[in-house]
Amino acid sequence: MNGAGSEIAVLPGDGIGPEVVREGLKVLAALAEGDAAPWHITEYGGGAQYYLAHGREWESETEAAMPRADAVLLGAVGWPGATLPNGDIAGRALVLGLRERLDLFANVRPCRLYPGVKHRISDELKEVWAPKNVDLVIVRENTEDLYTPARGRLKRGGNTEVAIDTRVITQKGTERIVRFAYDLVRSRGRGAPADGVHRATCVDKSNVLEGCRFFRETFDRLGAEFPEVVRDYAYVDAFTQWLVRSPERYNVVVAPNMMGDIITDLAAVLQGGMGFASGGNVGLEHGMFEPVHGSAPKYAGKNQVNPFATFLAVEQMLRWLAGRRSDPRLLRQADRLERAVAKTLAAGTARTYDQGGTVTTSGAGDRVVAAIRAEPR
Ligand code: IPM
Ligand code: MN
Repeated sequence: MNGAGSEIAVLPGDGIGPEVVREGLKVLAALAEGDAAPWHITEYGGGAQYYLAHGREWESETEAAMPRADAVLLGAVGWPGATLPNGDIAGRALVLGLRERLDLFANVRPCRLYPGVKHRISDELKEVWAPKNVDLVIVRENTEDLYTPARGRLKRGGNTEVAIDTRVITQKGTERIVRFAYDLVRSRGRGAPADGVHRATCVDKSNVLEGCRFFRETFDRLGAEFPEVVRDYAYVDAFTQWLVRSPERYNVVVAPNMMGDIITDLAAVLQGGMGFASGGNVGLEHGMFEPVHGSAPKYAGKNQVNPFATFLAVEQMLRWLAGRRSDPRLLRQADRLERAVAKTLAAGTARTYDQGGTVTTSGAGDRVVAAIRAEPR
């Protein structure tokens, strides 16, 4: 948090996390060339592999540094067999822990298909959706619901008879996520690709669940404060087919945590796969940004995976920081990165294996760095 710029804490984490984060840092360095970098970067260890090596998920100094950073860039966490004594995944502290501790209540997952990107249905790369038809943002509640650590087992003689997860939906949690979604409709400017309508879609299961009924009621009640936003509703089961069939109908979608987790992975297919899915975990004070794909142990260390989700997470981070710090330099660099990414994808010169190409992770990073250098600062 030095006066000159933003303090960015980087947690590469596990598996392919360090490989994609390395490319993200390369891209940040390219953006900073020739100018005073409006950010300062510190890298920290932590995660499941760290746990296996050190017996703890991260150092207490690392944990203490997170609330002091302006933003966190997270690679991925999780490693086969790395489990905490209580059964949680090792690395939980970095992702779920930070969401809780930093009160990162909104998980913002843009789903946009860039020209030049292919997507995969039935294992074949195709172009079913026109890029112009996939441009939505899913806003997932990020602190409660089934993720509230109110769970446990009833055991008798060491034998589990019942396992319980309590689904907690609060007024505070619901109001702030719903408001966030409406504000996003406002600030996005453009509406749904199909019709330009400034639509907000509430995804829930309010035909069955009480928490969802409350979620939808709150969506309606607060909606009155946003008369220019068109309210739309979908039960989550029906939504999964509508989203795949007509992604162009959607603009901003808001959902409780667990359903949001599921539908964002589904939505990633529309944008070319998890290799393009980025997420911003944001609260009022803090923000953590990540590629959503996870640690993908089977690809770790192969320099093969798609780093674009990380580039898009970096862009999301710079854009969020620009707003937080009212720093136009950050916004300029976010725009510049977005142009460089879009041009590289459109040119089709950075296709990794998931896109049917042979370009390596670092090769894709090199192409984006070159595109950044070609963009005016
Ligand atoms: C995500 C992930 C996490 C979640 C896991 C890694 C705990 O799936 O960010 O979507 O469930 O939220
Ligand atoms: Mn997930």
